[in-house]
Amino acid sequence: MEIDVFTLFPEAFDWFAEQRHVVNARELGHELHRVNYRDHTTLSGRQVDDTPFGGGAGMVLRVDVVEAALRGRYGIDPVQLPGRRRVIALDPSGRLLDDALVDELAAEPALTLLSGRYEGFDERILEHFVSDRVSIGRYVLAGGELAAMVVCDAVLRKQPGALGDERSAVEESFSAALEGGPEYPHYTRPAEWRGWRVPEVLLSGHHARIAEWRLAQSRARAAHSEGGGAI
Ligand code: 6GU
Repeated sequence: MEIDVFTLFPEAFDWFAEQRHVVNARELGHELHRVNYRDHTTLSGRQVDDTPFGGGAGMVLRVDVVEAALRGRYGIDPVQLPGRRRVIALDPSGRLLDDALVDELAAEPALTLLSGRYEGFDERILEHFVSDRVSIGRYVLAGGELAAMVVCDAVLRKQPGALGDERSAVEESFSAALEGGPEYPHYTRPAEWRGWRVPEVLLSGHHARIAEWRLAQSRARAAHSEGGGAI
């Protein structure tokens, strides 16, 4: 798949782009591009935002600048873009990102992510150039970059081969293999530490019993966390 991230801070993605699963995904032919809105503004001082009409705090990303950036990247009028690929605005009041939405996005051949800054986007960007608004939680970040990275991380690690061990992405928290429930507990060496023993079943080498125990643990955790409590 191809992911294009539009941002005012492309360098914020430097660390992310070097993460193992992102490097793996790239080596498998997936692409992650960054586009700086500022490279497409014709306004003086490389301006990209402006004060809100009607007054109020903060700055709003301009529709003409975002149009120029999208046009520059895709060579078409961006009103035609949402019909051709998912164009996602990172927006604190958007659709909440969960495992089902990640699966949906991971299956797309191409994604465009628009990060906002300051008070967000001019509404006309959202109305005319965008297919989806996605939020990573009900709290407000100072900018969309971290949210865009969260989406990229979750989507790229779902690509076959991006993780070292393919089973990691199948049987994990919230996956169908665990009935949408949380993951079971994990243990590694030493088998005993300060008298804290690893459950015997995990040392038994009995794969069917281990699978049964893990599913039971996941179900117990799901029951425990119902009603929004911590997992
Ligand atoms: Cl997508 N953007 C910002 N700025 N804050 C957020 C968010 C997005 N999702 C949760 N908080």
